[in-house]
Amino acid sequence: MKGIFITGTDTGVGKTLVARAIVHVMRKQYDKVGVMKPVASGAVFQNGLLQNEDAVQLQKACNVPLPYALINPYCFSPAIAPHIAADLEGVAVDIKHIQTCYANIAQQVDVVVVEGAGGWLAPLNSTDTIESLAQALAIPVVLVIGLRLGCLNHALLTINAMYRSGVSVLGWIGNSIDPDFQYRDKNISALKQRIAAPCLGLLPFSENPDIAVLAPHLQIN
Ligand SMILES: Nc1ncnc2c1ncn2[C@@H]1O[C@H](COP(=O)(O)OP(=O)(O)OP(=O)(O)O)[C@@H](O)[C@H]1O
Ligand SMILES: [Mg+2]
Repeated sequence: MKGIFITGTDTGVGKTLVARAIVHVMRKQYDKVGVMKPVASGAVFQNGLLQNEDAVQLQKACNVPLPYALINPYCFSPAIAPHIAADLEGVAVDIKHIQTCYANIAQQVDVVVVEGAGGWLAPLNSTDTIESLAQALAIPVVLVIGLRLGCLNHALLTINAMYRSGVSVLGWIGNSIDPDFQYRDKNISALKQRIAAPCLGLLPFSENPDIAVLAPHLQIN
C-alpha cells in the first residue's frame, strides 16, 4: 500500500485532522511519509505563494521536504466548491496532472496520505469528482464520519457509493465534531452494524486537538 486517500461525509468533518493523525501513525511505521491535498479552495498568499491551510498543515506534518506545488497542484483563492473556483480562474482540474504529482511524491516516500476535498461526490471539473480522483489514484480509501446528527444517512450514502465505485475501502473513522451530540455511542453502534468495512478509530471531541494525543485512538497500519 503506497497511499491512503482520506474522504469524508462532508466538508468540515475532520479530514485534515484525521490525515494529520494518520501521518503521525505512519511516521512510526515508515521512514518517509508524504502528503497531498490535490485540490483545495480557500487560500491566501504566504511567502509569495497562494497556499491553502490544509495543505500547509499536511506539509508541516510530513517528514520529507516536498515542494508546495507538488502537494497541492490546484489551489484556489475563494473558499467555494473547487470546480466553481477553477471555472472562475479559467482553469480545469486535470486528474492526469494530479496523478503525475502523486507519482512524483510516491517515488520519494514510503507512503502518501492524500486528503480529498469536501465529500465523495464533490465535483472537481465538469465530469470528474473526488470519486474519480480516488479511482484514478487507485489507493485504499478511508472515510471520516463527522459524528453529529444526520451522520448515519451521510455515512451510509457515502460508504455505499464508495463500494459501488470499486475503490478499496480500508475502513472508517468516527470523529466527534459535536460535543453535544446525543446518543453518540448508539449512533456508533448503528454505524458498526451497517458498515462492513472496519472502524479504524474513534476520535474524541477536543477543543485544542493535539495530534500526538489523538493518533493512538487510531488502529491503522
Ligand atoms: N475531534 C475534534 N474535536 C474538536 N474539533 C475538531 C475535531 N475534529 C475536527 N475539529 C475541528 O473542526 C474543523 C474542521 O476540521 P477539519 O479542517 O479537519 O475538517 P475537513 O473535513 O478537513 O474540512 P475541509 O472540507 O475544509 O477540508 C476544524 O476547526 C477542526 O479543528
Ligand atoms: Mg481539510
